[in-house]
Amino acid sequence: MEVVQMLATHSLLVKAFLGFLVGGLIIPFVTSQNPLGFRKASFFYTMIFQGLTTMIAFAGLVAVFTGNLGWTMTTIIMIIVWAVMMYIEIKKYKVIKIANLENAETHKVIKSAFVKISLVQILLVTLMVVLMILKAKGIVSF
Ligand code: HEM
Repeated sequence: MEVVQMLATHSLLVKAFLGFLVGGLIIPFVTSQNPLGFRKASFFYTMIFQGLTTMIAFAGLVAVFTGNLGWTMTTIIMIIVWAVMMYIEIKKYKVIKIANLENAETHKVIKSAFVKISLVQILLVTLMVVLMILKAKGIVSF
């Protein structure tokens, strides 16, 4: 596969991931009366999250090596953003897994944390997309 194709795949996966993050926001709302449903949905959510992020990193890394693109500042920022998102997601998953969701107050706090974490992740991906657009337009150059 050409580097150009690999990067096009990377770009497409990032957009699919953004759509997934936005769509995932409905989980705490549709399961608001159903703590166990929330836990189950959250499990599948994290699984798909990990799958998509792994594909994004794979496509990105293959492009870096096969295209001899080197470690530019934007690529390093992407890797940091990637690691931060993975870290937050795994932490969130562990908390949801062990929390006593039958307790209405705990369920409420965790639902709100789920939404806030999703919003942070959406913001990170959006900023990354904007940064890459600015780079492509030559407005930022690093
Ligand atoms: C290990 C992780 C990653 C690696 C190695 C990687 C690598 C790359 C490389 C080499 C490029 C091309 C750079 C250029 O054209 O100057 C690129 C483009 C891009 N990456 Fe990543 N990336 C990674 C993760 C991410 C993540 C997590 C996001 C989103 C948060 C992201 C968003 C983008 C975007 C929006 C572009 C521009 C695509 C386009 O031209 O349409 N990347 N990435």
